[in-house]
Amino acid sequence: MDWKAYYEAHITDAAQAVQHIKSGDRVVLGHAVGEPPYLVDAMVANAAAYENVEIVHMVAKGKAEYCKPEYAKNFRHNAMFVGPTTKEAIAQGRGDFTPCFFSEVPQLFATDLPLDVALVQVTPPNAEGKCSLGVSVDYTLPAIRCAKTVIAQVNACMPWTEGESLVDVTDIDWFVRHDEPIIANQPPKIGPVEEAIGRNVASLVPDGATLQLGIGAIPDAVLLFLKHKKDLGIHSEMFSDGVVELAEAGVITNAKKTLHPGKYVATFLMGSQRLYDFANNNPDVYMAPVDYVNDPFVIAQNDNMISINSCVQVDFMGQVASETIGQTQISGTGGQVDFIRGAARSKGGKAIIAMPSTVKGKISKIVPQLDNGAAVTTSRNDVDYVVTEYGVAKLKGRTLRQRAQALIAIAHPDFREELMEEFHRRFPG
Ligand code: COA
Repeated sequence: MDWKAYYEAHITDAAQAVQHIKSGDRVVLGHAVGEPPYLVDAMVANAAAYENVEIVHMVAKGKAEYCKPEYAKNFRHNAMFVGPTTKEAIAQGRGDFTPCFFSEVPQLFATDLPLDVALVQVTPPNAEGKCSLGVSVDYTLPAIRCAKTVIAQVNACMPWTEGESLVDVTDIDWFVRHDEPIIANQPPKIGPVEEAIGRNVASLVPDGATLQLGIGAIPDAVLLFLKHKKDLGIHSEMFSDGVVELAEAGVITNAKKTLHPGKYVATFLMGSQRLYDFANNNPDVYMAPVDYVNDPFVIAQNDNMISINSCVQVDFMGQVASETIGQTQISGTGGQVDFIRGAARSKGGKAIIAMPSTVKGKISKIVPQLDNGAAVTTSRNDVDYVVTEYGVAKLKGRTLRQRAQALIAIAHPDFREELMEEFHRRFPG
């Protein structure tokens, strides 16, 4: 059967397609803004037909209605990253959290976390019968390879991206055609504190560096202060609109990259329509699965690799809690450790944790000990630079005593006295 005949024969509607999901199945959703909203809506509308369907997902950018209390018997969410739409379900016990490095998710799907159904989103096929996964290749491509049944929303609004982002139509079992704009991600608010952090981080970025930018206001603020740099490159789990701005200004050229020179390398994209237009049919955007992009040994092949991520708390030893507030899971490990380890191995690389010194001026994020029950995301052996609006603390090669001193020096002045009291108790002499 040629691909066109296969494609035509496997087109169905959403209500029919979600009948391939059975009670007790494990269903993975395309990641972040690659989630197929039309299929997820159809699955939720069909909730009465299911019992105990496990929804595996990472950054959930859709409505996540399957997390609502009224669907508790129909769906159970298994999160690898918690966000605003899913945190209540996890906190209230209607969902669960699975700790993992983002780079290892494809391996989990192939071994410990087998998939029954993948709900994904793709472009319409090209003349060769290939679809692009567009904004989300990450674990979505591996999920297509692993799941017993693959159902795709075919959306003409999905940008066509290249690299390793293409699948054959015959890799997909059912197609549901439905065009709608790709979910847009609201830009974070950048205030004076974020700007000061951005300025401090920018001081660590040399011309010709390759950047990884994490999620949130801090990475966006950093980009504002890179406008005078030259020939920056991108090898990042994800990137957003700030990168487009610097690309258009000629600051990001990828010219000095030692791996994939000339290319913006990413595993997913998340931003506004401007970003999606930038990526569409752009031969310089190289999208690849997360077990490649986030592999620390691949990352390390970029000289001068600078990773920039944020966190919730750092303790005196340099242990970094990035995904919990006490025992409450608020996000996930994501690619933080993948990139910190990759940057640490890169020639000229720097791994940076950047954060405001306080939560709204009221709670210090630099603490003698992490909150009771907090998960350590980045260990004290992995951490290197910690940056706040008050400066830069370099921790690698420093003793515990020196680390605590360096961290207190970049804490908010209102908290330095009480931190010093704790320091003297902890490090007498
Ligand atoms: N004590 C109490 N609450 C805290 C806190 C602390 N020490 N630190 C943060 N919070 C609260 C904030 O007040 C905010 O609460 P709100 O949602 O009620 O306003 C919430 O936690 C999120 O913090 P915020 O600083 O607004 O988040 P952000 O968007 O800048 O993201 C992280 C920061 C750490 C959550 C985010 O970077 C993350 O998830 N990192 C881990 C994964 C990662 O690094 N991935 C990178 C590769 S993609």
